[in-house]
Amino acid sequence: MRSYPVTARHGLIWLFPGDPAMAEQRRVPDIPELDGPRPWARIDADYTWRAHHSMIIDNVSDFTHAYLHRKYRPFWDARLTHCETVGDTVRLGYDTVIGGGRLTGRFVDRRRVDTTSIDLVYEYPYQRSDTGGGIKHWCFVLPMDRTTTRVFFLFYFDALKIPGARARVPRPLMGPLMKAAGALAVRPLLRQDGTAVEAEQEGYERNFTSPVVELNPAVHLFQDLTIRKWEQHLARENADLVRRSPRRDGRSSEPSDSAGDPANPPARDGVPPRG
Ligand SMILES: [Fe+2]
Repeated sequence: MRSYPVTARHGLIWLFPGDPAMAEQRRVPDIPELDGPRPWARIDADYTWRAHHSMIIDNVSDFTHAYLHRKYRPFWDARLTHCETVGDTVRLGYDTVIGGGRLTGRFVDRRRVDTTSIDLVYEYPYQRSDTGGGIKHWCFVLPMDRTTTRVFFLFYFDALKIPGARARVPRPLMGPLMKAAGALAVRPLLRQDGTAVEAEQEGYERNFTSPVVELNPAVHLFQDLTIRKWEQHLARENADLVRRSPRRDGRSSEPSDSAGDPANPPARDGVPPRG
């Protein structure tokens, strides 16, 4: 049996599928809002979807699919304001209306938090968002095979108030409120995303030779980054194979370099270094 380094953090178990020697250098992302004595209220959700991991990461940041969520309106009337790639990170922003649901929107404290725009980041291999410093989320993926992905969402809030009042929701009520919001709004909404990405995967398999029709320039940047990381992985694997291949005298060309590239630990079967 092969073994992998694991660690527990943020209520999740993290598996490192690359070179074990690199596990200490590729840290689990810090989420200070969830650590410490007064962590933010959070909603967790995880699913197994029959879709390539990149389709899920693309979907979460592509606000052109607002119509899919018209019943819940987590974002509405979005206009892309910027998108750029710097190294292994894509940053983008939308001017939009966040938290516009008829029920959930009444809990959002718009006096304290600007909900008219959102910043999104694809920090390979993770995806996250920040609305006004008071509503945030992370999305982590664990590819199971070429077309199946386990996906983990963490949503956390510092911007909830009592509907019709200015006062914040009292801390003892946050637990039950998060439970209700998760069951009534967040998880049903995410199941819509699951249906969409699984349909996208089916469409890709039926029509993979057709040109990709993608109107959102941010999605192109996401796909470019995912492809670049995959090609880097293949190049490292090929280089490793060449190094290990026997020479005519029967010895390998050179000893294996177990340290590898600190910035790019090897992955296996399309699995990002963390997930
Ligand atoms: Fe969505």
